[in-house]
Amino acid sequence: MVSLPFQGHINPFLKLAKRLISKGVHVTIATTENARHRLPKMPNSQSSEIHLEFFSDGLSFDFDRSDQNSLINSLYTKGSKNLSTLITNLTKAQEFSCMIVNPFVPWAIDVANEHGIPCAMLWIQASAVFSIYYRYFKNTGDDFQNLEDPNEKVQLPGLPTFKVRDLPTLMLPSSPDHFKRLLMHLYQSLDKVKWVFGTSFYEAEEEIVKSMVSLTPIYPIGPLVSPFLLGETETNVFSVDLWNAEYSCIEWLDNKPNSSVIYVSFGSLIVLSNKNIENIATALKNSNKPFLWVLNPGAENKEGGADELAFEILKETKGRGLVVKWCQQERVLMHPSVACFVSHCGWNSTLETLVAGVPVIACPEWTDQPTNAVLVSNVFKTGVNAKSEEHGVINAQELQRCIWEVMDGPNAEEIKNRAMEMKDLARKALQEGGSSDKHINQFIHDMIIHNL
Ligand code: UDX
Repeated sequence: MVSLPFQGHINPFLKLAKRLISKGVHVTIATTENARHRLPKMPNSQSSEIHLEFFSDGLSFDFDRSDQNSLINSLYTKGSKNLSTLITNLTKAQEFSCMIVNPFVPWAIDVANEHGIPCAMLWIQASAVFSIYYRYFKNTGDDFQNLEDPNEKVQLPGLPTFKVRDLPTLMLPSSPDHFKRLLMHLYQSLDKVKWVFGTSFYEAEEEIVKSMVSLTPIYPIGPLVSPFLLGETETNVFSVDLWNAEYSCIEWLDNKPNSSVIYVSFGSLIVLSNKNIENIATALKNSNKPFLWVLNPGAENKEGGADELAFEILKETKGRGLVVKWCQQERVLMHPSVACFVSHCGWNSTLETLVAGVPVIACPEWTDQPTNAVLVSNVFKTGVNAKSEEHGVINAQELQRCIWEVMDGPNAEEIKNRAMEMKDLARKALQEGGSSDKHINQFIHDMIIHNL
């Protein structure tokens, strides 16, 4: 397996590795050298069956990798060569039946081909996003008339009608070219990929999966989420966490009534503006409900003062809330006191809400999040999409209305029931004979036993 080491990228690979290992497959994961020290919770190669290998992305250790353009260019020119050398060395001692690549390193498909190794891809976002990009980057974009108008309607097979503003932002005119070049390369290389896997499960994205069968089929093999969410006991912690979690919030939740707490988190990358922090605070204050809010260390914005604002919020809500820097989200979502999740709809968080059966209030900002928000409200029907002038601008009144709708409004029970239904379906998909289990078995049979 080849993946970049970002939390949302490598964790699904670790989860897939665990599934494959449980079925007798040997797995080596190669990621970039700069991440070696950042994988503290990863089982080391002595104590587990996962074999870890590292290759250089071609940049110095202290290079600022948030400069995405430079990172992508260096991976293309130097990272790909270094991966190729690593594979040459590794194949002296072993033979690889298959290389499963992360979509955001499309050059790894060429490396696999160079070495004559059959290639598969683990698509780490919604199958819906795979399908939308496919129609844009592979099918020359005829399905999209006018991407300049955010209110233009889009009608695609397998998806409800939505608007240009709800498309993944990386394909929109406002997005930088380096992402478009990357996605274009990926989709033009798809013919060299024998299997495309999705991280969700068939029952969640059935119509979308069906709509891709005659194009490039996508096989969901998930939900690829923390074993804790699936009720599995795990001795090895197969995950990477960016920050240390504050455990006090679980005790705090223990003292709250069932289904009473609003959980708020915008994932690992989004930096909330002070205005958005104030608007969220106003909605939480007016909702009169207990809340747990993750304002992560990366969320310190350029304006400064996020910590002071958080302190003010707590004072004004008279201890009704708790603000933490990072939590064990899977434990929070599974806690009986949590009633709903105000989320940016990053794909990992979205999958986790499906597995935990937690209703969502979607406040998306960029990349796949606006599309995931449509999935939540119109396909999964496990939550509502908070309206806003533009994605990333949070309106206090609308957020308050959405909290009411999900917790107390006339549709609240239906949304909760639907969330519980998805929770059940998610578990069944992974059980023996379930849809995801069948896809994994079929892959092992075709790719590994028969080397197709
Ligand atoms: C990024 C993109 O923003 C997202 O759109 C894309 O789908 C995946 O990559 P991120 O913003 O970090 O991801 O969001 P998300 O995909 O939801 O992943 C966040 C992860 O961090 C989740 O697995 C969540 O459980 C975890 N988390 C979050 C914690 O463990 N603790 C926290 O306090 C908050």
